[in-house]
Amino acid sequence: MPTRTREWWRDAIVYQIYVRSFADSNGDGRGDLAGVIDHLDHLQELGVDAIWLTPCYPSPQLDHGYDVADYFDIEPMYGDLATFDRLVTQSHARDIRVMMDVVPNHCSDRHAWFQAALDSPTGSRERARFFFRDGRGEHGELPPNNWRSVFGGAAWTRVSGQGGAPGQWYLHTFSPWQPDFDWECPDVGEMFSAMYRFWFDRGVDGFRVDAVTVVGKAPGLPDAPPVALGLPETHAWALNPHTVFWPSGHDAWRLLRKVMDDYELQNPGRVLTSVSEAYTPRRPDLLLQYVRPDEFHQSFGFDLLLSPWNAKMLRHAIGDEYDVLASAGASLTWTLNNHDTQRTVTRYGRADAALPESWTGNNLVYTNTPVDIEVGTTRARAMFLFAAGLPGSLYLFQGEELGLPEVLDISDDRRQDPIFERTNRKEIGRDGCRIPLPWSNDAATAFGFSPRSVEPWMPQPADWGRWALNVQHDDPASMFTLYRNAIAGRRVIDQSTPLEWIDTEADKFIAYRRGSLVVLMNLADEATEVPTASIANGEVIVLSSNAGHADPRVLPANTCVWMQ
Ligand code: GLC
Repeated sequence: MPTRTREWWRDAIVYQIYVRSFADSNGDGRGDLAGVIDHLDHLQELGVDAIWLTPCYPSPQLDHGYDVADYFDIEPMYGDLATFDRLVTQSHARDIRVMMDVVPNHCSDRHAWFQAALDSPTGSRERARFFFRDGRGEHGELPPNNWRSVFGGAAWTRVSGQGGAPGQWYLHTFSPWQPDFDWECPDVGEMFSAMYRFWFDRGVDGFRVDAVTVVGKAPGLPDAPPVALGLPETHAWALNPHTVFWPSGHDAWRLLRKVMDDYELQNPGRVLTSVSEAYTPRRPDLLLQYVRPDEFHQSFGFDLLLSPWNAKMLRHAIGDEYDVLASAGASLTWTLNNHDTQRTVTRYGRADAALPESWTGNNLVYTNTPVDIEVGTTRARAMFLFAAGLPGSLYLFQGEELGLPEVLDISDDRRQDPIFERTNRKEIGRDGCRIPLPWSNDAATAFGFSPRSVEPWMPQPADWGRWALNVQHDDPASMFTLYRNAIAGRRVIDQSTPLEWIDTEADKFIAYRRGSLVVLMNLADEATEVPTASIANGEVIVLSSNAGHADPRVLPANTCVWMQ
């Protein structure tokens, strides 16, 4: 068992494992749980406090596990319950907590409940667990309303009725293989309560909770207001006020929080957490709703991830959420990368990365301007160091500690994200941040991803070995070394000290103080004189740039420094 029993999650470094792409132990070209166990030493060396596993439940994998067919078992491709138990034990032995991913908005269309619903009549209890509705039009041939799905196309699919005649429609906020649960039906809350207890009994320390903003639905499912023509498909859904942030969703979070609080009471020594995936662009007031004391313990502050490389905008992205959450006593949760977002190295390397207009407020929607990987890497290093000093917890996404770029040039026939086909190939989707990790520069083993020569489920670029862990491990200038040093360096921070902004009076800089630690970042593309003399004299603890720091009054281009 991990040794610390206080609320460990408040300032934890949590490492997100996209199981399918992390490490393949059996040579089938797909990552698995035994592969995670094999690399726990890496995570321990990196210094993480917890791991978050993306969904590893039985699933047809049409959205790589975010289409769950059974919430109480392990996907055979990834292992079995015994392997999962071993993973928990071995993680805990290293003082690493284990978080799972729960998908409460929808399941797979292969889930037993949905199959039963298809076999049951209109108005049945089986159908009440989902949103089955009659169609509009003379023969019910039109969807019940005009809602759009996140991955493109209508949010409704029609099923066959008795004797194969066209029947009712069901709602799917994401793809047609992901039917939405109706949380008004008590069966749903009961099932997820039982699921939480099932995994807590196996030693799980918490959940990352998927797609929470769309779980509520307005009674009667009214049409959404029309959206402007030409909006990306993956953005149109976000403007539907009859589901996005619909308040009834919060009833679900209160129910599940009660399950967690009760579990902690009955099991002294267990300290659990839940973190919500709620994108609340520039609405810290909405973010705050998810971390009310009887809802989630944490909720990602995604404005940081969404923000361009721009001092003023970053100050707002961080400062506005900090002000609202910290003053309410709520925990801050930062992240720069995840499995749905273009990687920082690529994002910050885009020609328009610093322009305010590059803000889209949506992690699925990016511009397509040229990318300079060197600039992007330098900025990604700085941004990580800047974020690592902030109060709160920080969630990392696998491979960011290696500085992996987004892989943009995947051939069409290899793309797997449903977004690609559902948008008629207009949007490339999220495959590029999910490329199997390079553990070694040995191309014959899929760069150490697999134990032997095998074609991994997603193609790796020919030069992937350049980013391999074994190449970076002992290199003082590598991304890996920076991550390890910064995570270790966090120990100098008294985590109870608040964030205090330092007014730099310059658009090029952003700076803050945490007790005796000063964190200063130069966002300009050239070395720039430190604006405030009082902070130029500190002792450098960590520097993001390899360009040296000979003159302490001048900070290299795109660089962050920790000083004391
Ligand atoms: C969340 C997940 C994403 C998934 C979607 C549907 O946004 O992070 O990967 O596709 O929900 O479950």
